[in-house]
Amino acid sequence: MNAKKTAAEKAVEYIKDGMTVGLGTGSTAYWAIRRIGERVQEGLNIRAIATSRASEELAVELGIAMMSSSEAVELDLTIDGADEVDRSWSLIKGGGGALLREKIVASISKQLIIIVDESKVKERLGGFALPVEVIPFGYEITMRQLSATGCTPVLRMLEGKPYWTDNGNYIVDCDYGDILHPSQLAIRINAIPGVVDNGLFVGMAGQVIVGYGDGTVKQLE
Ligand code: A5P
Repeated sequence: MNAKKTAAEKAVEYIKDGMTVGLGTGSTAYWAIRRIGERVQEGLNIRAIATSRASEELAVELGIAMMSSSEAVELDLTIDGADEVDRSWSLIKGGGGALLREKIVASISKQLIIIVDESKVKERLGGFALPVEVIPFGYEITMRQLSATGCTPVLRMLEGKPYWTDNGNYIVDCDYGDILHPSQLAIRINAIPGVVDNGLFVGMAGQVIVGYGDGTVKQLE
């Protein structure tokens, strides 16, 4: 069974007619967007905003009506994936490089539903290196400053060049080992001038739906 797909399809059940919806990014959110597209074909009337160019292209292809950021004052619901989630529903996001748009969209969502397969649920965050979006200017300086917060920073590369986000920035993946105080760490990282944002989402998820290999889904308690 595809645990990502099962979790995604469960989350889409929470979408009701007339809602405004945030569309996440990544291989789990992909299944949610696919299912939303099917429901739209069946007559569901929603308007959506996407957290990446890739998700926007998919949504448009599937006939989902999109809204601009000027229209998106408050969203009823956002469905998105995560790279790690702990028992307090703190998250690491940004493995796909979309953490900034994801955090902006999550910040105006009345409800953020996170969809993951069981491998993403951890006792403690930090097994997955924390993605940090940084501006290209002076990125080496920013990386040294990130290093001083206690991590090993690595500039994300793609085909021999720095990886570019949809916002024209770089991603630095920061390995902290176990992250004991996610909210304090997030504040420390964002105080560095060259940092745009980091992939720690603390106190944002309203629900976490976990898909299992045997085809079952459960809410994370
Ligand atoms: C995108 O930048 C991320 O935040 C994704 O939501 C996260 O990486 C999970 O992706 P998968 O669903 O592909 O594992």
